[in-house]
This record gives sequence, structure tokens and C-alpha cells, in this order.
Amino acid sequence: MCGIVGYVGNKKCRGFIIDGLKRLEYRGYDSAGFSCFAQSDYLESVKEVGSVKKLEQSLEKKSCDGFCGIGHTRWATHGVASQANAHPHFDCNRKIAVVHNGIIEGFEKIRNELIKLGHNFVSQTDTEVVPHLFEELLKEFELKDALKELVKKLDGAYSFVILNKDYEDRLILVRKKSPLVVGLSEEENFVASDFLAFSDKTQNVVFLPDESITVLRKDKIEIFDFSGNKLNVEAQKIDHKFNDVSKQGFEHYMLKEIYEQKQAINKTISFFSLIENLWGQLGLTTEQVKKLKKINLIAAGTSWHACRIAQFFIEKYCKIPAQIYLASEFRYMPFFRQDDSIFIFVSQSGETADSLEALRLVKSFGVPTIALTNVVSSTMVREADGYLHMQAGPEISVASTKAFSTQLASLFWLSNKIAEQKSLMTDVEMKKAENDLFIAAEILESSIENYKVKITGQLAPFYSKYEKFIFLGRHISYPFSMEAALKLKEISYIFAQCYPAGELKHGPIALIDEKTPIVLFSVLDELIYQKIVSNAQEVKARNGHLLVFAFEGQEELINLADNCFILPRVNPMLVPLAMTGLMQFFVYQITKLLGCPIDKPRNLAKSVTVE
Ligand code: M6R
Repeated sequence: MCGIVGYVGNKKCRGFIIDGLKRLEYRGYDSAGFSCFAQSDYLESVKEVGSVKKLEQSLEKKSCDGFCGIGHTRWATHGVASQANAHPHFDCNRKIAVVHNGIIEGFEKIRNELIKLGHNFVSQTDTEVVPHLFEELLKEFELKDALKELVKKLDGAYSFVILNKDYEDRLILVRKKSPLVVGLSEEENFVASDFLAFSDKTQNVVFLPDESITVLRKDKIEIFDFSGNKLNVEAQKIDHKFNDVSKQGFEHYMLKEIYEQKQAINKTISFFSLIENLWGQLGLTTEQVKKLKKINLIAAGTSWHACRIAQFFIEKYCKIPAQIYLASEFRYMPFFRQDDSIFIFVSQSGETADSLEALRLVKSFGVPTIALTNVVSSTMVREADGYLHMQAGPEISVASTKAFSTQLASLFWLSNKIAEQKSLMTDVEMKKAENDLFIAAEILESSIENYKVKITGQLAPFYSKYEKFIFLGRHISYPFSMEAALKLKEISYIFAQCYPAGELKHGPIALIDEKTPIVLFSVLDELIYQKIVSNAQEVKARNGHLLVFAFEGQEELINLADNCFILPRVNPMLVPLAMTGLMQFFVYQITKLLGCPIDKPRNLAKSVTVE
């Protein structure tokens, strides 16, 4: 979603800002803009709908550059993607420019009041109230007091960077909930919504505290709380660099990431098993782990599906209940504090606004919080009591693939580790669990190879003609069917509905017709497998078209299918992990035939940083 990059120093800033914006591009955006102090009496700016590349070309034509500037990539929330709505936004005299991430809640009221006072608005955005309000406040207050008044009037979660023509030597940074990080260097300083934007310039960073105002000059940083009290915040060293991830010959990042899964899982599990003080890193004592009575997991989207599957791991191995929450719903439900429980927040990016808000809520009740993420420098890792860092490597395609499978592997491993600590499992069984994971990762990859030709040549052309699908699963394969349906919807725009197979006869069976293929995911639990066979028969009895993901030896099911994938048998808990590669590859090939922009589906962003 939106990205902020800013610079103040003794070099021209345009090149750095464009480069920084390019590093944040993969998060998703629809327009981009730049502004700086140049020679004129007002702030110069260029904005473009579309890519940062387009912005760069327009800036070259205008030779717009300076020693202090800001840039932004916008993902539309208030108002369509247009030049007028792109950031930066300005006051009436074009002396104040603002780039903003997040949402200003209740901005309409402020906007109407400012319009009554004679302010001229040119966009539909919530952001534009900030420069106009600041302009108004500066008529009455000096800079610092105007900023204090400004934040008093703004609700929501936001971070913004302000240029003010009367103070050409500085950037003003304001942060409430949305992240902002400063990079410190010799005679130049940087700011961005993500440290990756400047990670090749400096490793010396200050993560700005929540509810803070910062004045950043080329050789000085001053941080205040919202009441104007000075804060002393230590800089820290981060040894994490931006890897310029290329497609390495693959046609899309998604395909490359599908093929990276086995390695990502193996690397993650090997990495976890070498952590010396696992419970300490998770913010827990061994006593706390032994006494655990409940594990809660909170996430969004694909990460939530991984948690839904992990519920089966926790309840089987740790023999305690697991409760899974959608982050976007959790905050609005009553909170029942329970002793001897923990909350695990699962997020590829560690920046998902809904998940972060849920984390803050749980923390306020004093219950232990753990982040499981793929980005160690993320807000979630900083704010949680403990963390586990998956080793999936950068995931660029908006559709989560290797993050999902690595989350499954991580949660399976952690459930077994907790069980071992609770003396429910021996170290030999723990080793076997790790080995089962490596086997499932191997099957995830080899099954793609086995069916590659059939999918590309036959199945994808056949199924890409359908306009809607029903996905069915039971027990551990039901949440997996949710993930399959999401994957198909988000990249191919084909409508897909998932149901627990046992619910078919309670309503959705009415939808079965020749226009709607049914995709059924099997399991390896013998009792549930028999129920799945019955569900397949229900479909066939109504002349439904059945595509089945089955396992070796499941002849009854295989014989009912119109088309079938047959996978080697695995630990029954790892059925979803084993089926993941094939499911993703199948969806990828359908989407490719439809000509959709696979890595950047319409309307979506990689990092969902607004609620
Ligand atoms: O970074 P997170 O794992 O917190 O992201 C959560 C969802 O936004 C994400 O999984 C989303 O659903 C993906 N587009 C799925 O492919």
C-alpha cells in the first residue's frame, strides 16, 4: 500500500527518492508523486497516475530537484487514482506539502470547516485536510505549537511527512500508529515508511515512537511526544539489506515463489531448530509453556487460513484448545482475558494494520503476544513480546504462496515444540515431526513436476473456460479449500466459493450444475476420508463435474473424479502443505491463460497498511 520516502541533506534528493519509491513498489500502489524545495517561491511537485517509472520520466523533463524532498506511492482509499488525488497535497499557497500513509478518520468535518474559512480543496482525499489545517494553525501558532494543535485535531492511524517552505532545512514527521523510520547518516538523513527504502544508505535507524512529532534536519533529529515533551530515542543498527529480487528467469514472481517453497520451508525449520533460547525469544518462560491452557492465533487473509489449519496442529499435539480470530473482526468483539494463554499474530509482512491493531489490544490486557512473520524489521516484531522469523525470503507477488506454506510449516513445528516442552512428545518424535515436514515439502515440489505438463496442456485450458467454481474440503482440508478459493479469486478474478463438504446437502448442493466445477480436497484421516467419498458421490449423483486432489490408495474417490491429482501419502496433518504447490500452480496456469496481471492483481496491495 502507500509508501513514504523523504530526504534532507547535502545532496540532491530526487534520485534517492525515486530509488526508494521503487523499492516500495511491490507493496502495491496506483499513483506516485514527488515534491522538493527548489529555486521558486513555492514548492515544486510532479505527480503521475501509474508507475514510479512514469513519475521519474516526468521529473527528468522538468529538472525538478532539491536538497530536501518527499516522495509517495498512493493506493487509493478516498477518491479514485488520479493526478489530483496523488500525494503530495498542498495548502492554498503551495508552501506546505504533505505525504501521508493511513487514514484520517472524520476528515469531512475538518474539510467543511476549512472550506468555510476559505480554503480551496482540489482533491477527494482525506490527506488534503492536513496541509490546509496546518496552514490555518500557523496563522495563530508558532511551528511547534501548530503541530501540537494539528495532531489534537486528527483522528485515525496516520504517518505523514511535511515540507514547509518557511523551514527549508527540515522535514517534519508525524506518526500515530502507522510506521515511520528515520535513517541517520553523515550530513544527510532519510525517512521512510519502511527502512528498506534507504537500507543501502545507512544501517543506523530510529524507529519513531507512536504518537510522536519529529523535526529532521541534515545533521539533527529532535523527537517530541504529542504534548511537545522531548523524547530520547536511541538509534539502532539493522543489518538487513534490501535484496534486489529479480524474477531469475521466471515469467512471474508468483511462479518463482511457488518453486521456492521447498527451500523456504527447509531453511525455516533448520533455522528454528538452531535458535538457542527459543522460549526466551518468544517472550515466554519454560514454565509458562508447560502451563499453557489455550493458544489464540490472529491474522488476515491467507495468513488467517494458515492459522485455521494450524488449529488442527495445536489441538492434536499440544492437547489444548486453539482459537483463531480474523484480525479485522477481533477488535470489535468482547475480550475475555484468560490466564495461561498466549496470542500468536501471523503475518507475512508484519505490517497488516488490522493485525497490528489487534496486537495492541491484546497487549493492553497484559497477555503474552508473539509475532510470526517473514520480515524481521517489521512493526509487528517490534511491538510483540516475542517473535519467530520465517526464512521464506522476500515475497514480491501480491498473492501469498511461499509465505503461506512457510507459515504452515512454522506453526506445525511450533505446535510440536510446545508439545515436547509439555512432555507430550519425546525428542525422537520431535525429530520425526521435522522429518515429516521435509517430506511434505518435497511432495509439494515434486507433485508440481509430476502434473506440470498435464496442467499447462490440458487442465488449465479446460478449467479457464469456467466462470465460477465451488471448492470443498473437510476437517483439515476445509480451511485449505478457503485458501484455494481465495487464490483463484484474487489473481484470476474467477468467482470461487468454498464450503465444508459436509454442508453441501444443507444448501449449496442447489448450485451444482454443468457450469460450476467442484474442486474437492481429500484428507488422510480414514473416517473423514469416507465422509468425503460420500460428498463426492452426492456431487456425481447430480451430474456435477468433479476435480479431486487425492492421495495414493484413495481409489473410491479417484474413481468418482472427472479429473484427479494423486499425491504420495504424508503425515495426515501435513495434507494441506503437500497439496499447496499443486493448487497454486493450477491457479497460476489458469490465470496466465486468462491474461491477468498475475503479480499485481487489480485493486490489491501486498501490504495492507490501512484498516
Ligand atoms: O502480510 P500479511 O500476511 O499480514 O497479509 C495478510 C493478507 O493481506 C494477505 O495474506 C492477502 O490475503 C494476500 N493477498 C493473499 O494472497
